[in-house]
Amino acid sequence: MLVNATNMLLKARDGHYGVGQFNINNLEWTRSILLQAQAMQSPVILGVSEGAGKYMTGFKTVAAMVRAMDESLGITVPVALHLDHGTYEGAKACIEAGFTSIMFDGSHYPIEENIAKTRELVELAHDKGLSIEAEVGSIGVVGNGEIADPEECAKITALGVDFLAAGIGNIHGIYPANWKGLDFEALERIHQATNNIPLVLHGGTGIPDEMVQKAIRLGVSKINVNTDCQLVFAEATRKYIEAGKDQQGKGYDPRKLLKPGADAIMDKVKEKIELFGSANKA
Ligand code: 13P
Repeated sequence: MLVNATNMLLKARDGHYGVGQFNINNLEWTRSILLQAQAMQSPVILGVSEGAGKYMTGFKTVAAMVRAMDESLGITVPVALHLDHGTYEGAKACIEAGFTSIMFDGSHYPIEENIAKTRELVELAHDKGLSIEAEVGSIGVVGNGEIADPEECAKITALGVDFLAAGIGNIHGIYPANWKGLDFEALERIHQATNNIPLVLHGGTGIPDEMVQKAIRLGVSKINVNTDCQLVFAEATRKYIEAGKDQQGKGYDPRKLLKPGADAIMDKVKEKIELFGSANKA
């Protein structure tokens, strides 16, 4: 059932669990994530980056595919279709395309410009019943990750966004060996400054489980996972080919070739739903 993400994240905040956002790239992943969420009776968020949106021939295609799949698989758990790290233009396109939730990542703009653009997009999104996430303190790809300024977080929260991504040392992709870990003091300061808004932890891949659980206790309600799914998909596909299975019978049929990877996504999503505590919270 496609819904916006606001209520599912408010419930998660109050129940002290997290909802997983798993990014999608294709039909196999989308189906695996939906089926696992349904089997575990967990709310789930399907994240779509702008790159993945283009790869799948545009946001309209993505929205149509997800809606049709949700219906034909008989999915009854709440599912949000969410733009991940949207640009200003991308956010507007997804509002039109039928997404149920958007993220506007204005973290690279000077704060006043981030505020102006976020304000406009909050209005557009809410007019259409969509939820909206904003980002403060760019979530990096290298180094130790940025720490968001609580005052800037408070300013963006006051614009009426539904949930907030705030950098607390988290990074996308694989963490460097010398990564210092999440900054929980920063998380507490941001939590205090933002009036209990559900917080989002980007870069969910590779954060130790205890840190994820502590972050949830301190106000994180959504955890984004992408690289983990990519890694298990690649590993399962590699094993299939290395075992020569594509050369046995009709093992070269993409439906067979992609199945181990799709199964691996299901297992990874199960593991994360258990970690985040969202099973049976649909
Ligand atoms: P990872 O790729 O590190 O899991 O991060 C995902 C993410 O934060 C998407 O916004």
